[in-house]
Amino acid sequence: MPRSLFDLYAETYPFTLPALGYAPAAVEPAVDAATMSLHHDKHHAAYVTNLNAALKDHPDLHRISLGELLMGLRRWPAAVQTAIRNQGGGHANHALFWQLLAPGAPSASAPSGQLADWIVRDFGSVDACKAALKAAGVGQFGSGWAWLVKTATNHLVVKGLPNQDSPLLEGELPVLGLDVWEHAYYLKYQNRRADYLDALLGRINWDTAGAQLRR
Ligand SMILES: [Fe+2]
Repeated sequence: MPRSLFDLYAETYPFTLPALGYAPAAVEPAVDAATMSLHHDKHHAAYVTNLNAALKDHPDLHRISLGELLMGLRRWPAAVQTAIRNQGGGHANHALFWQLLAPGAPSASAPSGQLADWIVRDFGSVDACKAALKAAGVGQFGSGWAWLVKTATNHLVVKGLPNQDSPLLEGELPVLGLDVWEHAYYLKYQNRRADYLDALLGRINWDTAGAQLRR
């Protein structure tokens, strides 16, 4: 069983790579098996390894949860802030990302409940929200993520963030994240990032996204 997302943000040093929770081919054709395996087994694993290495000699941080490390970044020693931001962000972002993808046959999954209500309130429609996410992903220069976040005032906003910056750094809750690093799509899509985003947006596990609002 994959760990719950609550458990993920509550995780403390030493951090571990969560299981993908499904076969590498389970989200094909949107995400090919080779990309899924490399992405999880190599890229995500490296963020975990590097985060642990950075915190190894900071025992005072070993009782601090991943969520707290990211939300309170400026409180930690300057020597580890960059590692927490990049490697800790990479760990948190990817652990959420695997659960945001729907394995099995492509389905007509759609937002429901509070998430659906808030999307309509803040974007007008689910399609408009998806279009905003796609635009943020296409428009993100270089590496980064397109995010749907819950703000401190309980609104949903789409934004692009560079590299592995987590919305948690600014006190905003990640609801849905689309990885637009080239490592997420280049084997299959090469330069066609927009096509990758279209495919990905058709394979979202909206139950996972909706569950984020209940944190
Ligand atoms: Fe990634």
